[in-house]
Order: sequence, then structure tokens, then C-alpha cells
Amino acid sequence: MLWVSVDKKSDVPMIRQIYHQFRQAVLNGKLGAGSKLPSSRELAKQLHISRNVVLEAYDLLHAEGFLQTRKGAGTFIATGAQYHTKTDLPAPRVRAVNMGYGAPKHIINFRAGTPELSLFPRRKWLSNIRTALDTSPVDILAYGHPEGRMELREAICEYVVTQREVDCHPDQVIITAGTTQAIGLTCSLLLRQDGKQVVVEDPLTYDIKEIVANQGGEIHPVGVDNLGMKTAELPEQITPVCIYVTPSHQFPMGATLPIQRRIELLCYAEQKNSYVIEDDYDSEFRFDGPPISSLHGLAPSRVVYIGTFSKTLCPAIRIGYIVLPAELISGGRSRKWQMDLHNEVTSQLALAAFIKNGDYLKHVVKMRKHYLQRRKAVEQALQYHFGDQVEILGSNSGLHLVARFPDRRFTQELLDRVEQAGAKFYGVWSHCMNPDEHRDKLLIGYGNLTLEQIEKGMDILAVNLVEKDLIIPGNHHL
Ligand SMILES: Cc1ncc(COP(=O)(O)O)c(C=O)c1O
Repeated sequence: MLWVSVDKKSDVPMIRQIYHQFRQAVLNGKLGAGSKLPSSRELAKQLHISRNVVLEAYDLLHAEGFLQTRKGAGTFIATGAQYHTKTDLPAPRVRAVNMGYGAPKHIINFRAGTPELSLFPRRKWLSNIRTALDTSPVDILAYGHPEGRMELREAICEYVVTQREVDCHPDQVIITAGTTQAIGLTCSLLLRQDGKQVVVEDPLTYDIKEIVANQGGEIHPVGVDNLGMKTAELPEQITPVCIYVTPSHQFPMGATLPIQRRIELLCYAEQKNSYVIEDDYDSEFRFDGPPISSLHGLAPSRVVYIGTFSKTLCPAIRIGYIVLPAELISGGRSRKWQMDLHNEVTSQLALAAFIKNGDYLKHVVKMRKHYLQRRKAVEQALQYHFGDQVEILGSNSGLHLVARFPDRRFTQELLDRVEQAGAKFYGVWSHCMNPDEHRDKLLIGYGNLTLEQIEKGMDILAVNLVEKDLIIPGNHHL
């Protein structure tokens, strides 16, 4: 057995080293079926190691079926254990998922929807996590229920009832890994063999389009204007299972859906016996007054309401929730169970405490002031550089705005040039079903930028837009 060796200085235990060498030799046929193994005593002596080490390595090989012991005759290689495996595989070449929002660190990234990460209340969060772990009974560490902790469902319920005019009971709430999971779960619950049609706003978040399509949804876009979804254009010829909307703050265009359109939408859903999915992703940040009331409050049995803590706290905690009409609750809980059992528990308890003791609302108020300041900085820079050549669309709220430049077409080539100069902006068209639409509009996220970055980034945009070859002939120079 000269080919077996051990390295006593290696981090790999000697048992593992011996086991591995025999295993490889059997798999690649170097040790054929029926070959006799040296006795443990013999091999231990040859390798100058304890016999127990060899015995344990043999035991492991035996347990995996590589060896057979014949009473009185010794230990042999078992039959049927030869298999050509490649052991020195190169690292897999994986293409990273292109979520479309990345940019190198030195680029000022005006992506929409990221909150100010440096203001995440780390200390309070940590203290709530610590308290949850210190003071909760040990059963919080066991498997829990798919709908999530009652403490958090109660806290959310109280919050959405008082702040958002959502009409709900804690039993209707399921805690999810953000809106992303909530939409996937809702689609998997509603889409059926004979009902796959989903009406969506156009433009709509690219990610959500992907989620609906991945659940097998057949997407029917309905256009958006300065009041939100054009409800007069809801398709008569189909019977959708659901209609996805962002009524408080249309993403990306920013409109708030007026009551007349809300009613028209609900009447359509009633007539088609469809559900409405209300994605209420950032309504906490309305700068002109208190948040707009939810659509849910008007028709609680028709609307699936979805909220998230990704914008008010941070996306990384992955906590959102669904409020389901009564008849969907047990199905929803089963889906969540099948997806991932339930959300992580300690952070649910920490968040429940954060909401209940009033810190959450205080944090939201503080962040609202912060984002208002950022928004004003973007608006002022747009005014300064482009004057009446730019129009700001949508309501005065959220972590992004849409700027319309009537004389421009924001091609990918132009956006790439601006990025090369140091600032990344996004065309609204990147969220459109038909990318030829909304070419004159930029989506400008300001949630996670400093005032200096906003100023510098807007300077870069201005410089790159006044270059002669980017001006459409016959229009004004900026
Ligand atoms: C329209 C919309 N809804 C919801 C979300 C939040 O998703 P999540 O809660 O999964 O982080 C986003 C993210 O940017 C969004 O654009």
C-alpha cells in the first residue's frame, strides 16, 4: 500500500485523508472489486499512525458501501462501486443575474427604490434582536407557523388600520420575504389552469413583470397617464384572475390614482370576479401630507394588500406582508409553508417590538424629512440646469421622481455615456412593455444618495445632455 500516505501537518484529519484515497482508488477502478485491503494493523504500522485512525477510515468506507467484510477472510472492495467522477473540476462559470441596477462603486447610482442605508436604526434594531433572543421562551427557535409571529401580525394590523385605512384582522396577515415573495405567493395562489390572465400597469417594475410571468401569468398591460392606470382601458375581452396596481404611488411614473379610477377599477374587478393586488410599497413617504388611504379600505374582500419594510427600514431584512381576503387565508398559509416554511423569527419579534413601542413611526417621520430634502435637491438641480425644458411628473412622494424632457430620447447609448462620465440614470422605458414608449423620461432615485452626490450627478447629466450630437435637430439647446 505504498500509494496511501498521510500528511500529519495537514488541516484535513488523517481519517479523512485515508478514507479519501481509498474512495478515489475504488471509484476510478484503481482498486477493483474483490481486492483485499491491508489489515488495519499493517497499514497503521506502514504509515506510523495509530491503528484506530485506520479502523475509523475503514468504518467510514464500510458504512458507505465501498467495503465488504468476509468473516475470517478479511476486508474486500465491494462490487459496483466504480464510477468515473471528475475530482478537479474548475470553478463553475456562472453568469450573475442581471438585475439591471448595478454600478461600480465610483459611479453615482440614481437607482430607484433604495432607502438611505446609513440611517438604518442599527442600535435599536440590535437591541430589539437581543431582547427577543434573551427574553423569549426557547420555542421561538423551533419551527414556527407559516403566517408568521402573532406579535408582528398584530403590530402590522394596528399600524395599517390606523395609518393606511386598511380594514383587517391579524389572522388575514401573512409575513413574507418582502413584496417580491408576496407577489409570487399571491400569483401562485390565484393563477389556475384555466385562469392565467393578469392585468398590470404599464410601465411597471421590471422585477414584478418577471415574477408574474414566472408564475405562468399571461400579462395584459394597461397604460398609465398622469393619474395612474387608465382604468377606462381595462380589457373587456378577457377575465383576469387579478389586476396588479400601485395606486398610492404608481411605479415608476409616480401618480396617485384618484377615487373615480379606484371605483372604476373595483367595479371592473367585481364584474370580472377578479382580485386586485395593491402594492403599497412606499406610501409612508408622502411629503404634502399624511399617506393616501389604501384601496383595500374600499373593498377589503376584493383587494389583496401588500406592504413592505424594504423602503421604511431596509431591503436586506426581507420583511413584507400580505393582507388576504378571508377565503384566501388558508391557501396563502399553505403556499408560504411550501415556499420556505416561514420567515426568520427573531427579526419578526424585533420588528414587532419596534412598531409597538412607537420607534417605527418616529423613524418613518425622520426619514420622510430626510427624503424630502433629497427630493428638493434633485428638483432644484433639474430647475437650475434645465429650467422649463424639464417637467417633473407624479405626486410629491417616495424615493424617486420622473423627469420628462420633451425634446429628448434617452437611448441606452446616451445613458451609457452619462454613466461613463460618472452617474447612472435609468430610462422609464426600461420598465415599459414597449420600450419605444416613455423615451423622453428619466427615472431618478434619490433615496440612498448624499446631497453632494445628487449635485455632482446632476451636473454630470447636464454636461452630457448639452453635447451637440445629443440634441434633436430643431429643438432648443439646453
Ligand atoms: C413597485 C415595487 N414594489 C415593491 C418593491 C419592494 O420589493 P421588496 O419588498 O421585495 O423589497 C419594489 C422594489 O423596488 C417596487 O419597485
